[in-house]
Amino acid sequence: MNYIQLTGVLKKAGLSIVLLFLLNNISPAQVQPLPVPLRVENLICEYKTNPISVDAANPRLSWKLVTQDRGIQQTSYEIRVGNNAVSLTKGKGIIWGTGRIYSAQSIQIYYGGPMLTSRQKVYWQVRVWNNKNQVSPWSMVNFWKMGLLKQSDWTAQWIQDTYQSDTTGGPTPMFRKSFKLDRKIRAAHLYITAHGVFEAQINGKRVGEDYFAPGWTSYNKRLQYNVYDVTTSILKGFNAIGVTIGDGWYRGYTYNRKKDVYGKKLALLCQLEIVYTNGQREIINSDKTWKVAYGPIRSSSFFDGEEYDARKEKPGWATGTYKDATWDTVKTDTTIKANLIATSGPTVKKHEKFNPLKVLTTPAGERVVDFGQNLVGWVQFKLKAKAGDTIRLFHAEVLDQKGNFYTKNLRTAKQEITYVFKSDSVETYEPHFTFQGFRFMKIVGYDGPLDSTNVAAYALYSDMAQTGSFSTSNKLVNQLQHNIQWGQKGNFIDVPTDCPQRDERMGWTGDAQAFCRTATFNMDVAGFFTKWLKDLQADQHKDGAVPYVIPNMLDSTLSAASGWSDVATIAPWNIYLAYNDKQVLQQQYNSMKAWVGYIQRHSRNYLWDTGNHFGDWLFYAGTNYEDGAALTDKNLIAQAFYAHSTQLLINAARILGHSDDVQTYTKLLYNIKQAFNSEYVTPNGRMISGTQTSYVLALNFDMLPENLRASAAKRLVGNIEDYDEHITTGFLGTPYICHVLSRFGRTDIAYDLLMKESYPSWLYPVKNGATTIWERWDGIKPDGSFEDPEMNSFNHYAYGAIGDWLYRVVAGINTDEDDPGFHKIVIAPHPGGKLTMAQAELETLYGKVKSAWTIDQGIFTLDIVVPPNTTAQVILPYVTDAITENGLDINTVKEITDIKKIGNDEQFAVVSGSYHFVYTLKVQGKKN
Ligand code: BGC
Repeated sequence: MNYIQLTGVLKKAGLSIVLLFLLNNISPAQVQPLPVPLRVENLICEYKTNPISVDAANPRLSWKLVTQDRGIQQTSYEIRVGNNAVSLTKGKGIIWGTGRIYSAQSIQIYYGGPMLTSRQKVYWQVRVWNNKNQVSPWSMVNFWKMGLLKQSDWTAQWIQDTYQSDTTGGPTPMFRKSFKLDRKIRAAHLYITAHGVFEAQINGKRVGEDYFAPGWTSYNKRLQYNVYDVTTSILKGFNAIGVTIGDGWYRGYTYNRKKDVYGKKLALLCQLEIVYTNGQREIINSDKTWKVAYGPIRSSSFFDGEEYDARKEKPGWATGTYKDATWDTVKTDTTIKANLIATSGPTVKKHEKFNPLKVLTTPAGERVVDFGQNLVGWVQFKLKAKAGDTIRLFHAEVLDQKGNFYTKNLRTAKQEITYVFKSDSVETYEPHFTFQGFRFMKIVGYDGPLDSTNVAAYALYSDMAQTGSFSTSNKLVNQLQHNIQWGQKGNFIDVPTDCPQRDERMGWTGDAQAFCRTATFNMDVAGFFTKWLKDLQADQHKDGAVPYVIPNMLDSTLSAASGWSDVATIAPWNIYLAYNDKQVLQQQYNSMKAWVGYIQRHSRNYLWDTGNHFGDWLFYAGTNYEDGAALTDKNLIAQAFYAHSTQLLINAARILGHSDDVQTYTKLLYNIKQAFNSEYVTPNGRMISGTQTSYVLALNFDMLPENLRASAAKRLVGNIEDYDEHITTGFLGTPYICHVLSRFGRTDIAYDLLMKESYPSWLYPVKNGATTIWERWDGIKPDGSFEDPEMNSFNHYAYGAIGDWLYRVVAGINTDEDDPGFHKIVIAPHPGGKLTMAQAELETLYGKVKSAWTIDQGIFTLDIVVPPNTTAQVILPYVTDAITENGLDINTVKEITDIKKIGNDEQFAVVSGSYHFVYTLKVQGKKN
């Protein structure tokens, strides 16, 4: 049946809507829903809508229930999967039908049908029943397509140029192939990867919207390939495919100017798979028939930028009629080992556009554009000059005290774009294989006008859906949240990096563990971390040591630091909590265990006091003796994280049913804590390092016996007061300090820390104009000068870890750890800090959770949303009188149960739905 016939049949069957989205790639979610009381939407497979490169044998399926009613629980579901969308909607051709399954589970359900084969595309639908005896209509049809599951599916050969000049920092090779197709095409998919980073074109059109593909993995062990549906780009007749390859992470300059980390030679592997309308297949493979040449990109580097000579462009090089007689032949390389895996996480895409906020001439006489936001990406321009003229763009995060362009903190990273014009007309350009961390752009060699018509900055980052938002009545706190989110955007470039601007940009594990939980609130990071954790596992040493950076491109003997390597246990646990993803625990379990095993072997009498540790990195170091640097003993920290990792391993073992391990590690944990107390704590509970971090870690990881905890919390508060309510923690204490204060009833002090505007504090950079989180509490010192340029990034997310407390405590959205993934939600807002309003929303796998409170003349109002198929425990603070919900006493509302008064709080359970609570707030004073 052809397209026209198919349309006719579908129209008759009233299924034109299905056809519309199937043929136009419109997600079913975009089609206007029917007004029915219960619907199923947002069907995702392995965290993606309609993925086309799935290599999980049993992919996981999730969906959301949509209803206006309160108290909706799914009681059963039915999934059906088929090879043909149209038949499926008629209940025919089903390859896997679950029948009605009596279960409330609506997320992370494993496909359980027949084994799927390479390239197989299957369609799926769901319907659900609820506790009100309603049944939803069948959902819209979504699909997933399997990737190339066997190495033998790869018929293409790796190809390379034969140029001597093909070295790091040299020109980027362009590979091409023309081909003629004499029949009509039904579908075409491009499977492609590279040693290096690639950009492909078919018939002159860029393929897909990914940048820096195939992303960064531990290439020698895992190399991702990308898949693109290019059906609409392929023509009957002459066609061409062209692929440009840049140095990227494969061999480009990296830390310490190291290069060729994974190899010296760029290479391409791709196969364009065509299915004709008669069902026959043809594959255009990369092989020795391809041609290669250099073009306009004279060099490209993540650190240093790009040199582009437009005079060297080869117009039409990726079209079928282009003559490539002067191009060179390629060689094939059969020695390249196949470690090919499908791309599983989100790819890097182009996001926000920034127009110039100001164009200025600095005191040094330089022309600078201020884009108003420290971002990661590049500048695109449309400028006119003379053929042969060169312009140069430089990128910086800040201007110095005098207002001059400042690049010292980039260290050796040049972040420079050089462009040579080919004509006297307007030329448009944006870079290809580089990214810059910047807010300011200096232009040299161009004197004409600069404005929003001819210059713009674009942010590039991993394509993670924004799932969270947080705001309050305090503008500075809102800017802090903005900075946290932009820190995340700028540093989630396929891997979680420390910073995006200087000559570093690596997956530092300590930074990632500190920020990971906050990240789960801002954006959907499930796929992002799952992919990166596989690289962690791949690069973990045999003895269990976890490298400082992942993927590991540092000296392999450097490994294992407390608070850094612990990302091996912390990140899987956070992903599990946010998405109820047991698979990530399963996937990482051996790695978690190996990490704890490593520490065990390096401990004596359960005490880990050896090795090199970074300690509480970038803690408050003070300015003079009287200031009291807040230095915490590194071994004390190591012991605390040893306990934490062991606890998380026990948690994972319990969830995965490894009861022997639960027992073994529970004993171990007891001994670790005993050793901690005898080594670092006096019998009265004073710690050998009397710092904030010391008490924070001891309390947060339950290191102290119960009877010493309250007094330790007091000592912590005392220490904070000694510093005039300033924070003095570094990377390791910062994520937990406010949580510990809240847990021990001192949210008031946590708010003092949050609201402090002088150094060191979260709002100090905000007051100094920060638009991202700084690496140091005093990147710009109170006297206006800069910190040491050797380590002064203005886009480092670690201190942004306070975001987790903003969501979980200030707005009060949390998941019950015993029923995670926000299946059982805890809503516990904590007013304070003179805020009159705070609100957060989080798009969970079940739908939107919301908690929004206001205080107006002593009246506390809380609006919450609890998505279908979940329940929530609500804990309201400082309750004096009766609480109403939508004007009714909560005791009379049937959806509210188990009402209890505990101290000043009132607690109760609610079923799904929206609620509006109001009551008079007890006047708060500082507790002692
Ligand atoms: C990075 C950090 C990292 C640290 C480890 C720095 O250079 O930027 O964020 O965690 O090194 O010491």
